[in-house]
Amino acid sequence: MTSQNTKRIIRKAVFPVAGLGTRFLPATKVMPKEMLPINDRPLIQHVVDEAREAGIEEFIFVTGRHKNMLEEHFDYQPELKSTLQKRGKDDMIAKVEYSEMPAGRLFTTRQPRPLGLGHAIWCAKKLVGDEPFAVLLPDVLINNQGKAGCLKQMVDIYNETGGNVIAVEDVPREETFKYGIVDVESEKGDCMTIKGLVEKPAPEDAPSTLSAIGRYILQPEVFEHLAAFEKGAGGEIQLTDAMAKLIGRQPFNATRFAGKSYDSGSRLGFIQANLAYATQDDEIGEAVKLLIQNMAKKLNKGEINVAAE
Ligand code: UTP
Repeated sequence: MTSQNTKRIIRKAVFPVAGLGTRFLPATKVMPKEMLPINDRPLIQHVVDEAREAGIEEFIFVTGRHKNMLEEHFDYQPELKSTLQKRGKDDMIAKVEYSEMPAGRLFTTRQPRPLGLGHAIWCAKKLVGDEPFAVLLPDVLINNQGKAGCLKQMVDIYNETGGNVIAVEDVPREETFKYGIVDVESEKGDCMTIKGLVEKPAPEDAPSTLSAIGRYILQPEVFEHLAAFEKGAGGEIQLTDAMAKLIGRQPFNATRFAGKSYDSGSRLGFIQANLAYATQDDEIGEAVKLLIQNMAKKLNKGEINVAAE
C-alpha cells in the first residue's frame, strides 16, 4: 500500500466544521462553533492562518447545515471595505483583506449528518484526490508566540520522513479516555516512530500519555480505511481507527510540537485561549494583563464579585 505519494508536497488541508458544537449551546444554535472569536478573529481563521503559513494552497471545508457563515467569512466584502475607506480605518482594511481567500483556493463539501470526525474527513475524499494532505481541527488552537506554527513544524518533519505525521502532547493519565493516544516505538529528537494508536483508552489501558491534538498529515490511503464506515468509540466513525490501520504499512511519526494547545471547543479552554491570545495582542495586551492581575488580587482576598471595579 505504500505509494510513491508518501513524500509528495502537502498542498491541501481539510477543515472539518460540520459538528454540532453542543458544548456551547445555546450560542451555537445558529452560529457555527468555528465562528466563535478568540481575540480578534474566529476560530476557523486562526487555523486557516496556521495552514497558510505552512504553505497550504487549497482549503477544504467539510461543512453541514447552518455553516454558510464560515465560507462567507473568507469572502470579498466590497461594501465593508468602502465604508472603512471613507472612515480612514486603514488598519481595519488590512485586517479584513487578510481574512479574504484568493479565488480558487476555498472548496467546500458537505457532511449531511455528523457521524464522527472520520466520516467528516472521508467526505473530503474527492476534493483531496490521490495525494497526501493535512487535517486541522478548528477548535484546537496552537499558540506559538511568534515562532513557527504547528503545521509548519510538522511539514518540516514530513519533508524528512514522508508518510504520516501527527502532532502529540502529554495529557494527565487520568484523562486518556478523552483522547486518541499513541504507542511509541522509538524517539529521536522531536520525532517519534509510532507503533499503535488507540481512541479514548481507559487510563489503565493507555499505551502512553501522549495524545493526538488535532493536527495531522495523512496519506490518501487513509480514505480506503475510512470507507469501511466502522463505528468506534462513542458510536462515531473515528479518524484514529483508520489512521491506526496505516501503521506498519507506511511511515507513521508523531512530533511533540513547540507551542501550547487550547481546546477551544470546551468552554473553559475557550476562555483560557481568549486570555492567552488577548495578552499577546499589541493593542490590548497590557490592559488585559492588568485586568487579570486585578481579578487575581480580588480572588486572593476572597472577594466573590471579581469583575466589579
Ligand atoms: P468535536 O467533537 O470537538 O466537535 O469535533 P463537536 O462535535 O461539534 O462538539 P461538541 O462535542 O458537540 O461540543 C472536532 C471538529 O470536528 C468537526 C467539528 O465541527 C469540530 O470542528 N466534526 C466533528 C465534524 O465536522 N463532523 C463530525 O461528525 C464531528
